[in-house]
Amino acid sequence: MAPATDDPVAVALDELRAEAEACEKCLLSATRTRVVFGEGDPHSDLMFVGEAPGYHEDQQGRPFVGQAGKLLEQLLQTIGLSREQVYIANVLKSRPPNNRDPKPEEIAACEPYLVRQVEIIAPRVVCTLGNFATKLLSGSQTGITRVHGIPQRTHVGGRELYLYPIFHPAAALYTPAMLETLKQDVLRLPEVLGLPLGGDVPTDEAADAPVAPRADPPVRRPIVLPTLAAAPEPTAPLEPAAPALEPKPPQVQPPAPAQPPAPAQPPASPRPPAPGGPAEQLGLF
Ligand code: URA
Repeated sequence: MAPATDDPVAVALDELRAEAEACEKCLLSATRTRVVFGEGDPHSDLMFVGEAPGYHEDQQGRPFVGQAGKLLEQLLQTIGLSREQVYIANVLKSRPPNNRDPKPEEIAACEPYLVRQVEIIAPRVVCTLGNFATKLLSGSQTGITRVHGIPQRTHVGGRELYLYPIFHPAAALYTPAMLETLKQDVLRLPEVLGLPLGGDVPTDEAADAPVAPRADPPVRRPIVLPTLAAAPEPTAPLEPAAPALEPKPPQVQPPAPAQPPAPAQPPASPRPPAPGGPAEQLGLF
């Protein structure tokens, strides 16, 4: 049968989705209701990676559809984006029972799906939400408390990109200080999206070029995130006195390997224990 689309990116993602939906590489396949593969614009420059599906995600087969998802959508609005304009996925594609933490063997079994998603989508920025996604994709055990808000130029699979760790929205739902930090980190995302990558064309050459000639077909996009130009002014300045994207002094240290372990981490499992909890009473913005 002919594919429903001739977009090679969408076709490659659909094939990978079918593989994930049939996957029985870990025991979560026995308890999940639906595989939560990921969704959004497969041509976006911006991808979010959370931890694992929770109750609602497992029921609907879609990522971030509960309270954490609502907060993520509100945060995206502050930079002029909707969830449809980014791609959203998780480390695990199946829900751990009772929202427990992912086990190492589950992460290992699911990792190839995430890496392949990144390779196919080829975003400029992968925004990791919380510890599990950050540690997996950075390859470092340094926790989110230390590395949030600091872009890391790296490779995932064959793709060069910026990893941009931020707090998990579900954790921030319960901790006002964390929510404030999360908001500030999200406001810096447009700046991170503008950081240079090796495949970029120098500006003077780009001015003459009829199409963006980045050298990695077949999954290039013509142009992305057009609404960023129309994004509202941030409510708080993005580091006015410091050079762009310097670490913010009171919050974090640069992710140097020699650093001691973080003194405090956000809750290991940021998903709310049950629907209808205190998050629903919180006025988020
Ligand atoms: N938390 C996650 O990490 N992922 C989801 O999809 C929902 C909540």
